[in-house]
Amino acid sequence: MRLRVHPAARGLSGHYQPPGDKSISHRVALLGAVAAGQTRITGFLEAADTRATLAAMAALGADVVEDETGIVITGGRLEPPSQALDLGNSGTGMRLLAGLVAGRRDLLGERIELIGDASLSSRPMDRIIDPLAAMGANIESSGGKAPLVIVPSALKSIRYRLPVASAQVKSAVLLAGLSAAGDTVVEEPGPSRDHTERLLPAFGVSLLDGEPGIGVRGGQKLTGCQVRVPGDLSSAAFVMAATLLVPGSKVVLENVGLNPTRDGVLRIFDAMGAALRKAPGDGVGAEPVGRLEVGHARLRGIEIPAAWVPLAIDEFPVIMALAAAATGTTTIKGAAELRVKESDRLAVMCDGLRQLGVKLSETPDGAVIEGGPIRGGRVDCHGDHRIAMSLGLLGLVATGPVEVERAEWIATSYPGFVADLMALGAEVEWIDDE
Ligand code: S3P
Repeated sequence: MRLRVHPAARGLSGHYQPPGDKSISHRVALLGAVAAGQTRITGFLEAADTRATLAAMAALGADVVEDETGIVITGGRLEPPSQALDLGNSGTGMRLLAGLVAGRRDLLGERIELIGDASLSSRPMDRIIDPLAAMGANIESSGGKAPLVIVPSALKSIRYRLPVASAQVKSAVLLAGLSAAGDTVVEEPGPSRDHTERLLPAFGVSLLDGEPGIGVRGGQKLTGCQVRVPGDLSSAAFVMAATLLVPGSKVVLENVGLNPTRDGVLRIFDAMGAALRKAPGDGVGAEPVGRLEVGHARLRGIEIPAAWVPLAIDEFPVIMALAAAATGTTTIKGAAELRVKESDRLAVMCDGLRQLGVKLSETPDGAVIEGGPIRGGRVDCHGDHRIAMSLGLLGLVATGPVEVERAEWIATSYPGFVADLMALGAEVEWIDDE
């Protein structure tokens, strides 16, 4: 399916509620399945990635029931699955699940195979295999990539210093630590999203202050709980960007997750001149949540501080799109991690932006983008949901429509993207090429 975004004839306006947070939804599905009793979830992200994790947990024996109020998982004891667990496009699903099952006593000696699509099968898994193997995990891979075959075994604890700031690796090690003997501690070179640490105590797990790291004691039992998943700031970032771009726009975003380990995008948009108005709310569980008011702004290019990169890691495609439409030069450095996401996001965004007439240069760990007029045209998203949304948005301010091929990948994280943009007044359509 092709996505066609037309130049906006008027400003976007209205109230907007982002879909549930993807990172938190994955974690609740995983923890709910191993927690004794019931975990009641509202606001779970309805998207392909999080569905894949939920289906994997059901295949591992969790009882998953859904009604109009949400999802109830009854868990506690896992069982060997009858076939390979398919995590689709989801790096979070595969990496966290590998950590969770690597030492599970109820699966000792069983064979658990984790598979994914072509993109996921080309992404590095050695970053979790190395620390898990150091704990005694038994994981075979295809040259450090999926498919993974895990035979759960008794694990010992470790103190592990992450080579790069990665919440997925940190979480995989902490989840494995739940079934290891002793105290497992992870140290990070810089902050990465801390949803796992915020969620574990709700399931009755006490964390260890492993200064300068964070840890868990092995052998703790998890108990089911109620979780309200806040709106996903990463999805909201696309609507914020659209609002910033189109003259005359004003949108109020409600129930947006404002976790400080995720707020790099707010800092970057503000530094570019966005003047966002933030009203923190009461929070949802341990997660800060609030309202954001966004209006059209004349954005300028900036040099993005490298320290902000891990705090905005998923938002770089949309930040690059905004930089292309801003005045002046934007410089991104220290962002080589973008090359091992759902696509090589530096290369693919630079390619797409060039096709829309943007002047830029790609560097090994970033890009230098000259803001200027955007041309309409046709681009490919290379099977990456965030690339499809980011390039598509530029159609709102281009000289003609922007069309994104294979844009159905958007359903990986945000199936309601087009409907949400249209509800705010954008002209967007799907074109069936068949
Ligand atoms: C995620 C962590 C990040 C992010 C991904 C979700 C998570 O990946 O890019 O979309 O939920 O833990 P890394 O930990 O590999 O940086």
